[in-house]
Amino acid sequence: MAVRASDVSVHSIRRLWPADRNAVLAYFLRLDPETRASRFMGSVGEAGVRAYAAQAIRAEGAMYGAFVDGVLRGLGELRPMGLTRSRLVLGPQAEAAFAVEPAFRRRGIGADLFARIARAARHRGVTDLHVRCLSGNGPMLRLAAKHGAALQRAGGEIDGALQLERPTPVSLWYEGIAEAFDFSLAVSFPDRDRASA
Ligand SMILES: CC(C)(COP(=O)(O)OP(=O)(O)OC[C@H]1O[C@@H](n2cnc3c(N)ncnc32)[C@H](O)[C@@H]1OP(=O)(O)O)[C@@H](O)C(=O)NCCC(=O)NCCS
Repeated sequence: MAVRASDVSVHSIRRLWPADRNAVLAYFLRLDPETRASRFMGSVGEAGVRAYAAQAIRAEGAMYGAFVDGVLRGLGELRPMGLTRSRLVLGPQAEAAFAVEPAFRRRGIGADLFARIARAARHRGVTDLHVRCLSGNGPMLRLAAKHGAALQRAGGEIDGALQLERPTPVSLWYEGIAEAFDFSLAVSFPDRDRASA
């Protein structure tokens, strides 16, 4: 049967906050073993996923989520590579990582998460954004290349490096508004998908 445009739910991207912790845990637990292996570049069991999710929301950097019909279906992380001076400034180098649940791929969620994270990194002092994946991960390699990352092989992994422009006063203002809006959404609708499967 043909899929009409109206059959595909739209997604929205926003920053994740501690109020989203249950949604983050439920999302990581839903990921199938193959997706987890691609995301973490190695196999990770349920206990490992639980431990990772518990610390991820409070770890240095920031997380961004893609919501479809109110459920977290894609998640991107921005993490500093080295010491940070404050929670607002990550330093010149940072790393990004992404995963989208299989049923929600190929509809632009990965690209939107990538763009949102690159924008967030730019406004936190990052000039050099890296994304690492296994060398056989065609979708991630194409996604990184599409955003202008320079790809370099290191053993069985590929490092994609993206040079970011410096922020402008207007872009800083816009980013501040976007984060404040994200925060009010997170505290207004916490734990929306606690029970989703
Ligand atoms: C990589 C990943 C995040 C892409 O998410 P997505 O939502 O499907 O990506 P999008 O729909 O936004 O696609 C953006 C671009 O990525 C590339 N891409 C994504 N999936 C692809 C596929 N299966 N084959 C080829 N290219 C692909 C394309 O260039 C695409 O642009 P196009 O649609 O104009 O061709 C997703 O495949 C995923 O979660 N993989 C498992 C986790 C992982 O590997 N993470 C990387 C380690 S951090």
